[in-house]
Amino acid sequence: MSHAVTCTAPVNIAVIKYWGKRDEELILPINSSLSGTLSQDQLHARTSVMARADFASDAIWLNGKQESIENPRLQNCLREIRKLAAAKQTHQQGAPLPTDKVHICSVNNFPTAAGLASSAAGYACLVYALAQLYKVGDSLAEVTKLARVGSGSACRSIYGGWVRWVMGEAADGSDSIAEQVVDEHHWPEIEVLILVVSDHKKTTSSTAGMQTTVETSSLVKHRADKVVPQRMEDIQNAIRARDFETFGRITMQDSNQFHAVCLDTYPPITYLNDVSRGIIDMLTKYNAHKGKIQAAYTFDAGPNAVIYLPRENVNEVVNLVRHFFPPAVGAEAAFVRGFRDVPAAPVDA
Ligand code: ADP
Ligand code: DP6
Ligand code: CO
Repeated sequence: MSHAVTCTAPVNIAVIKYWGKRDEELILPINSSLSGTLSQDQLHARTSVMARADFASDAIWLNGKQESIENPRLQNCLREIRKLAAAKQTHQQGAPLPTDKVHICSVNNFPTAAGLASSAAGYACLVYALAQLYKVGDSLAEVTKLARVGSGSACRSIYGGWVRWVMGEAADGSDSIAEQVVDEHHWPEIEVLILVVSDHKKTTSSTAGMQTTVETSSLVKHRADKVVPQRMEDIQNAIRARDFETFGRITMQDSNQFHAVCLDTYPPITYLNDVSRGIIDMLTKYNAHKGKIQAAYTFDAGPNAVIYLPRENVNEVVNLVRHFFPPAVGAEAAFVRGFRDVPAAPVDA
């Protein structure tokens, strides 16, 4: 007897960045964060999970290559899901036994570990698929907690639209969950452009980078305690009011502060490169020239730019990028155009 499920999940790009953990094992952050969920048409993870009583062991293939199932993050996800399955009073009809072994096969249709949130889409997808397979995770809030123990940013890819990850206070992580602020229909004028500056695997993973930051940066403590709480309030109000000026300013300030914190880390972490800085300069001048914020950049743990902007400015910004960063001049900027829509979801067989 075999059971199988296939799901897809989108990436999300934070405008208030998560950077730093207070608990490495449970993945509890030192500050709350907020992101937009991108369209699955553009960037997604696609994961199939199959359980069979006669599989000899659990196994995972990522982008066609077998990876170690001993990865502690994977182990945490599998263990938590099976714990929930075993806790059900009666065995769920059509679900595998918690003791059955599972084979996982996942493919990202975009660069993995390049600072484009592959861990977010990847673990959201894996956990969502496993929750479907085992018929556990009765609420989406529960599923966000399961995704969080795979990769922190993954909890936000369980919902579409604008999503916050509330840091919570409980030592067991029971209140560290993602919640939808407003859905994907709330602000339909907003689009997302991704400028792929480099699709290479980054040299410092997000996990390792933020660990060193927490150990060595004094700025990150100031950021988490004194800066982010107010920004979370302000950006949620701006999103609710569809106030792009405020939204854009906070988005760029928070990206800048995240990269300042990376530089305050010892040894320093540099995710931005000359092309990234050129994009920041160009958009700063463009916004100044227009006398208002027309487009807002944000950079994750990598050199690739993500630009949030009202649709009416897309053509102008695309033309600017094409003009100042033509592919032949060493800048490999390419476009992905994303709309925010459906979150993690099963794929019809
Ligand atoms: P990114 O910026 O792409 O999120 P991270 O350093 O945060 O980079 O995480 C990359 C890691 O996430 C990968 O090395 C892999 O362990 C995990 N990952 C990425 N995609 C998937 C996926 N589809 N399924 C399971 N794990 C994934
Ligand atoms: C810069 O979620 O990838 O993208 O929890 O260790 O897996 P782990 O880290 P991860 O970190 C994401 C960092 C970020 C900002 C963000 O997405 O909020
Ligand atoms: Co990541």
